[in-house]
Parts: sequence; structure tokens; C-alpha cells
Amino acid sequence: MIEIIPAIIAEEFRELKKKIRLVEPYVDWVHIDIMDGKFVPHSTWSEPKKLKDINTNLKIETHLMILDPFKTLDDWLRAGISRVIIHWESLKLNPEGQLKKITEKVKNYKSQIPEPQRSQRGKPLFHPSLRLGRVKKRIYPLRLGVALNPETPWQEIKAFVKNLDLVLLMGVNPGRSGQSFREEILPKIKALREFSANLNIEVDGGVKPENIRKIIEAGANILVAGSAIFEARNVKMAVEELRQR
Ligand code: DX5
Ligand code: ZN
Repeated sequence: MIEIIPAIIAEEFRELKKKIRLVEPYVDWVHIDIMDGKFVPHSTWSEPKKLKDINTNLKIETHLMILDPFKTLDDWLRAGISRVIIHWESLKLNPEGQLKKITEKVKNYKSQIPEPQRSQRGKPLFHPSLRLGRVKKRIYPLRLGVALNPETPWQEIKAFVKNLDLVLLMGVNPGRSGQSFREEILPKIKALREFSANLNIEVDGGVKPENIRKIIEAGANILVAGSAIFEARNVKMAVEELRQR
């Protein structure tokens, strides 16, 4: 199945909330871009603890364009997201060792969520952090994705692919929305698809109605789009147009 996911870059919480509300009726997932001003020049809203206040049914993935993602990983895991995506290039020292550590952490996260407490009548009383039934649904299962910049060969993470839910191939240099898709990514998508038939291959950056077909034909099954959705006059039609191509 092909999934279209709107990409949100927000300067502050209000903007994030507004954009989520805008796409909520038309999609199942939302992709939140998080930037730290170090891994990429820009910085964005980044307050995992506030995310629950949005109270949405959408599944959330956070695309962490930040250095040292391990540092804030716990906060994101607790935020009730469904998938966390880190950049392979952000793991500077001993990237293999760090990715292993991150994989373990995400895999074991489920067991760190407090068990629901039982009320006297035997009905489960959820832990305060899970007080909304729908937040709980979003937490399981939690998935890990690894993003690769356009220049990074996918073979660098070949040994890890089997442990990942998803590989995100950037179609542009990370950092901002509205850039043109780099066609040289197409053979990379194809090669990764040949290597793994079942992997989720997500493409982010420069996805438009004009090129989405090519990207899907190369082997991508999850397409992230920022400007094609948020700069359209009609968000609903923009999502439908991407779906129909
Ligand atoms: C780029 C971000 C993308 C971006 C997509 O750094 O990771 O998610 O917002 O925007 P468009 O679709 O406009 O390239
Ligand atoms: Zn992104």
C-alpha cells in the first residue's frame, strides 16, 4: 500500500498544531521535521513533552535532523509517537555502535511503559501519561527508521536494514522544504528495493504530483510531502492528487 504523509516544519507549537488540524481529516500519519540548527542550519519547534497536548488520532513520525539523537530519544519515545527517524549521518563517533544502542532502546521501549493500573472494579486505569485511550494506541508498536542524505550510499546501513521498520531516502538535502527532487536518488531507491522486498522505503523531499509516480515505480511505498500539500490552495485536493498519481 502506498502511504502519503504530510511533512510539517513548524517554528513553534501553535503552528505545529494548526498544520496537524489542517491535514487531520485526510491522512493517517503526519511527519514532523525536527531541526536543531546544528545538524542542519535551521531550527524548529522541538518540545516532545508538549506533543500530547495536541490530542490527535494521527500516527506521528518525527524526523530528527539533529546531532546526537540518543540524547533526546527518551523524550521522543515518551511523547506517544509511532515512529522515530534518526539520521545515519548524525551519528558521528562509532555510528554502528550508536545505531545498535538506539535500535535496542526503541525495541525495548514497550517494556518501559508503565503497566496500566487496575482500579477497584477491575477496569484498567491508565497511567497518567496514557490517560487518553488514543494516545495509548499510538504508542504500540513503536518503530525505528533511519534516514540517509542524498549522497550517502544505502550500503552503509546494509547490515542494519533487517532490524529497521523503515529507511528514509532523502530526495533533497535536509534542512528546508520546497527544494527540487534529485533524480539521482531513483537508482538508489531501486537498489534498496531489490535488496529488501518488504522494507518500508520512505522518500522525503521534493515529492510532487509530477514525480511521485516515478518514485513509486522505483520502489518507494511511503511518500512524504511538505510544500506540495501545505502550499496548495486546497489541502484535501493536494493529498488526493498525490494519491491518484
Ligand atoms: C527536509 C524535510 C522534509 C521537507 C519536505 O529537510 O525533512 O520533510 O519538509 O518538504 P518538501 O516536500 O517541500 O520538499
Ligand atoms: Zn522530513
